Amino acid sequence: MAFDSMLYRKVLGQFATGVTLVTTLRDGKPWAMTANSFTSISLSPPIVMVSVSHGLTTNEAIRQSGGFAVNILRADQMWIAKRFASRDKPADPFSDIETHTGLTGAPLLRDCLGWVECRLVDQTEQGDHTVFFGGVEDMSLQNQSDPLLYYSSGYARIEPTPQQKVGVAEGKLIFFDWEAGNY
Ligand SMILES: Cc1cc2nc3c(=O)[nH]c(=O)nc-3n(C[C@H](O)[C@H](O)[C@H](O)COP(=O)(O)O)c2cc1C
Repeated sequence: MAFDSMLYRKVLGQFATGVTLVTTLRDGKPWAMTANSFTSISLSPPIVMVSVSHGLTTNEAIRQSGGFAVNILRADQMWIAKRFASRDKPADPFSDIETHTGLTGAPLLRDCLGWVECRLVDQTEQGDHTVFFGGVEDMSLQNQSDPLLYYSSGYARIEPTPQQKVGVAEGKLIFFDWEAGNY
């Protein structure tokens, strides 16, 4: 039986993820792409991975620069995700995004949920993607808000029930009752 690639995409789309902006340097200039294949691999030593399609400019840029950063996006940063998920980016895609330069030269978003910055420690070709493994050298936990999600080929956000309000306490996203005022 022929492999049903449409069904395969639909099944994988049932796995809800966060959305990240993977940043790096390309010819010495800031570069980025939207990615949801980000996963934590090891806590000690700290290693993360991201899987990048062959043929993408970002794939070449990570190989060349030897490092990358993963910026975890907030729900209200969907516009950033959309911009960097397109091959057709504006001439200066970072002009209206506040960044600073990390240890590897990758741009780091001042305003996102948090980021990790990595040196490339390994990579493997798997099918039509390269899996890049990054040793985490720096990180930041930033403003707490609700995360941007990706589910079933669309952007989403965490929706509290009508009786609930979403908030953040002690660094954790929480839902609490409107009426009771507690959680
Ligand atoms: C939510 C979302 C997640 C994505 N995740 C990945 C990913 O993990 N790996 C990948 O290769 N492409 C992913 N893409 C597609 C890239 O963002 C897209 O191909 C982008 O144009 C690549 O940039 P580049 O061509 O400048 O390298 C994703 C797209 C979206 C909308």
